[in-house]
Amino acid sequence: MAVPETPQPERVAVIGLGYVGLPLAVRAAEAGFDVVGLDVDELRVKRLAAGDSPVEDITGERLLAALDGGRLRVTCDAADLDGFDICVISVPTPLREGAPDLSYVESAGRAVAPHLRPGATVVLESTSYPGTTEDLLRPLLEAGSALTAGRDFHLGYSPERIDPGNARWRLENTPKVVSGVDPASLEAVEAFYDRIVQRTVPVSSTRTAELTKLLENTFRQVNIALVNELALCAGPLGVDIWEAVDAAATKPFGFMPFYPGPGVGGHCLPVDPSYLSWQVRRRLQHDVRFVSLAQEINDGMPEQVVRRVEQALGRPAAGARILLLGLAYKKNTGDVRESPAVTIAERLLSRGARVRAVEPYADPLRLPSEVLCVELTAPELREADAVIVATDHDCIDYELVVREAAYVFDARNRCARARNVERL
Ligand SMILES: NC(=O)c1ccc[n+]([C@@H]2O[C@H](COP(=O)([O-])OP(=O)(O)OC[C@H]3O[C@@H](n4cnc5c(N)ncnc54)[C@H](O)[C@@H]3O)[C@@H](O)[C@H]2O)c1
Repeated sequence: MAVPETPQPERVAVIGLGYVGLPLAVRAAEAGFDVVGLDVDELRVKRLAAGDSPVEDITGERLLAALDGGRLRVTCDAADLDGFDICVISVPTPLREGAPDLSYVESAGRAVAPHLRPGATVVLESTSYPGTTEDLLRPLLEAGSALTAGRDFHLGYSPERIDPGNARWRLENTPKVVSGVDPASLEAVEAFYDRIVQRTVPVSSTRTAELTKLLENTFRQVNIALVNELALCAGPLGVDIWEAVDAAATKPFGFMPFYPGPGVGGHCLPVDPSYLSWQVRRRLQHDVRFVSLAQEINDGMPEQVVRRVEQALGRPAAGARILLLGLAYKKNTGDVRESPAVTIAERLLSRGARVRAVEPYADPLRLPSEVLCVELTAPELREADAVIVATDHDCIDYELVVREAAYVFDARNRCARARNVERL
């Protein structure tokens, strides 16, 4: 009797190996797919090929295991996409002068199209406004492949919910919303992610899946703005906002705690709601007022921090030596994209302050060059006119900070109550 042939593992292509694409590529390799990861950044690809992971959630060992096991290849050459069964696009979707910049999605779509074969599946994971998959990506793929989505190949959208630095909710145990341009596409997209994550959540259209992501991030942005505005009012009213939020959070239904801070950052919160409001304005001539107001409040927070520090110093920041603790937008990560801590540093610098920072995670090349990066030491704390807790990295010794600093402005409620500590 003939031995049945072992089926070839399905081939997955991941376009864009950043915070979203790299964990997916590694996870797909671990799940038994044959994965090729494509990125246009040659330096990044070189580092990845050597097992050097720029994404905190993927350790070098995990990356190396996927590479050495032969299940993952990283490349800059689009020719290596040939023969993929499933292609996931996870390239950036930033803003350019306040409007969505979909040029990365467009160039990724153009790179993928010539390698698209009948029966293959393409999934967009980049965050964008409702209609991007069907109105922008679909025509590009069809034009470049001479195939038709729905008839010849499957096309869908699945938003990423990755939360960098979150050890509890990871790619594999966070439910994943999936969608397709037709029922067969949805089935193909769902079948793929069923092998990647524990639970998929199918929705009826790509537009719904696209809006789901924007709803999630707009919800966060608006609630953070609400609590930021209350934080600015609470102090003068003689109320501790942090205590009030924690007390409200004991309500077992109908409330979810959000905490004040120096503003919002990262690739998502400052950007995604603008994709929503831009599209609503363009299509419906309607202003999503919650988004505009939330942006105004959150964008004003770095200035509030600087103003409060100047008030405490009793003089303008010019000439003052300020030590910032953390420059990343989020604790325990090195992600400084749109970081409010960086905005605080820039504002202080523009007022003539001498700014130093303790930032153990971020790539020094991504930090403002005028900011001097230093180790956290007792003399460093003592020499500062003001210390600002801008990012609450767990590795900072906050007891040392409170003990040695003359004045601490704590924008994250991380320090113990003390005479020299003022909170947002
Ligand atoms: N970072 C997050 O926490 C997060 C969470 C959910 C969704 N998202 C969304 O996912 C998308 C990707 O975000 P990210 O944080 O991974 O971005 P990133 O900047 O970390 O990575 C994107 C990568 O894509 C590469 N790239 C750009 N154009 C390319 C092209 N044409 N071909 C191949 N590679 C290309 C870049 O060189 C970069 O390495 C965005 O739309 C973002 O909004 C991000």
